[in-house]
Amino acid sequence: MQTATTVAEVREQVRAWKREGLTVGLVPTMGYLHEGHKSLIVRAAAENDRIVVSDFVNPTQFGPNEDLESYPRDFDRDCKLCEEAGAALVFHPEPSEMYAPDACTYINMDALTHELCGLTRPIHFRGVCTVVGKLFNIVTPDRAYFGQKDAQQLAVIRRMVRDLNFGIEIVGCPIIREEDGLAKSSRNTYLSPEERTAALCLSRAVFAGQKMVEDGERDAATVLDAMRAIIEAEPLAKIDYVKMVDFDSIEQVERIEDAPVLCAMAVYVGKTRLIDNFIYEPGAAA
Ligand code: PAJ
Repeated sequence: MQTATTVAEVREQVRAWKREGLTVGLVPTMGYLHEGHKSLIVRAAAENDRIVVSDFVNPTQFGPNEDLESYPRDFDRDCKLCEEAGAALVFHPEPSEMYAPDACTYINMDALTHELCGLTRPIHFRGVCTVVGKLFNIVTPDRAYFGQKDAQQLAVIRRMVRDLNFGIEIVGCPIIREEDGLAKSSRNTYLSPEERTAALCLSRAVFAGQKMVEDGERDAATVLDAMRAIIEAEPLAKIDYVKMVDFDSIEQVERIEDAPVLCAMAVYVGKTRLIDNFIYEPGAAA
């Protein structure tokens, strides 16, 4: 497995692969990799000849009071995980390689990005779209892999690829959880032991809500109230949002009808903001 820190090195390697007729899969990450990221790389390796993993804590998607500086980093450990999972190249640029000091071009999305996480993180999706668009231009993959863990991000990327004709297949992958249910996240390392226990209220609420919907409940408020009650019973947890939206438009729904819905939440546990969700696709096998 190779590592690259410059855009030029990545382009050169990808060109060589394409000359050989090989397909290329991309897994964008911010590093501090865990089993969730690994599942994306393993899936990508099964479906493409060569896999590029980007490992870059993207400054433009963090707000001024967010955790850019403290975001955990361990590049050596990341490389081991990437190699085990089947990556061929890890792209690990410095911020200065990705953004010129006078960079002033961004990808802005008018819809989808003002709900859910976009409400409390107003510039977040502009940063995500911009960096993912740049990575798509640098790597020119056939397919790119994103986790359902960040379901709004997945919907936003799908819409961006459609609207801007990137011609890349976007593959969504299921949420990987700890044995006790907590969705794996690089940010789980911020949790104290008490907070780690309290954080289980997210997955408990997700599983309860999912079961209600699968058992036939169609009123969003009924499901959301039950989920909120589970989280509110946990003293260390504070709800940012718990909402049900159409998974394509990210607009709130009152009833679960024929289209896939995303039931998503962001919850502060102590100072750490955690997210979790489930997607219900009517007609899909449970
Ligand atoms: P990051 O948080 O590192 O996540 C990288 C990818 O791993 C995302 O597609 C995310 O949904 C997926 N992922 C994280 N935890 C997961 C889990 N428990 N199960 C399954 N997949 C999981 O998302 C980002 O980075 C950034 O916004 C990025 C797209 C790289 C742009 O900077």
